[in-house]
Amino acid sequence: MKLILLGAPGVGKGTQAKQIIKATGIPQISTGDMLRDAIRAGTGLGKQVKQVMDSGALVTDEIIIALVIERLAQDDCRDGYLFDGFPRTIPQAEALVENDIAIDRVIEISVPDDEIVKRLSGRRIHEASGRIYHLTHNPPQEPGKDDVTGEPLVQRDDDQEGTVKERLRVYRELTAPLVDFYQRQASENDDLDFHRVTGLGTTEEIKAAIFEILGLKP
Ligand code: AP5
Repeated sequence: MKLILLGAPGVGKGTQAKQIIKATGIPQISTGDMLRDAIRAGTGLGKQVKQVMDSGALVTDEIIIALVIERLAQDDCRDGYLFDGFPRTIPQAEALVENDIAIDRVIEISVPDDEIVKRLSGRRIHEASGRIYHLTHNPPQEPGKDDVTGEPLVQRDDDQEGTVKERLRVYRELTAPLVDFYQRQASENDDLDFHRVTGLGTTEEIKAAIFEILGLKP
């Protein structure tokens, strides 16, 4: 399976990606997680991208494309992959085509903006694993602590309300055109399917809709 989860910040791409990789064994390639790892590790890349991410803007296509191509060269991507938060611009999507990187499913998750702001302001994450929680929708067993390690949960720097609004603006301008791009590709290519699911409902309901599309057992 070679899958893209498409959708605005906070629609639940990361939450659903975790369920899909658990069921299929394919790796999740989240460019956001890779960039946050680089920031935490204090690498040159991390230093270069921190300010951009904190502002809600996008990292350059050049950096992202190189990062993804390097990641795809690893053995675990041989039988499939799930892109989460990538591609995010038309040039990133075109880079996949130019580099013969196959995609067979694109699933767009859609949620209204006011719900997104609520979701992101209540999101907490476990930095080391990327596990995702929400203060009310998906709280940890013990407040402020990761269920598996007991380590502290943190709020992402870009989940402040002003930054979320900028991320949504950037999504409309640069990423939303990918919906048309992939719908067109799917109409011209029998090996690619495009689907849209609502991201409103419980995480279990959305998982069920996505698993049905992917032909996975619940
Ligand atoms: P990235 O990390 O990719 O963030 P994003 O796309 O903005 O998406 P999020 O992780 O915010 O949301 P999500 O859809 O995964 O939602 P989640 O499952 O967590 O990107 C961050 C930054 O990195 C970018 O701004 C950019 O600077 C840079 N970047 C990354 N990739 C790039 C690229 N390709 N090109 C250029 N720059 C790039 O859910 C959100 C919350 O809602 C959680 O608290 C969750 O518990 C809760 N929730 C989930 N589902 C439900 C539900 N059904 N009901 C109620 N609550 C729910």
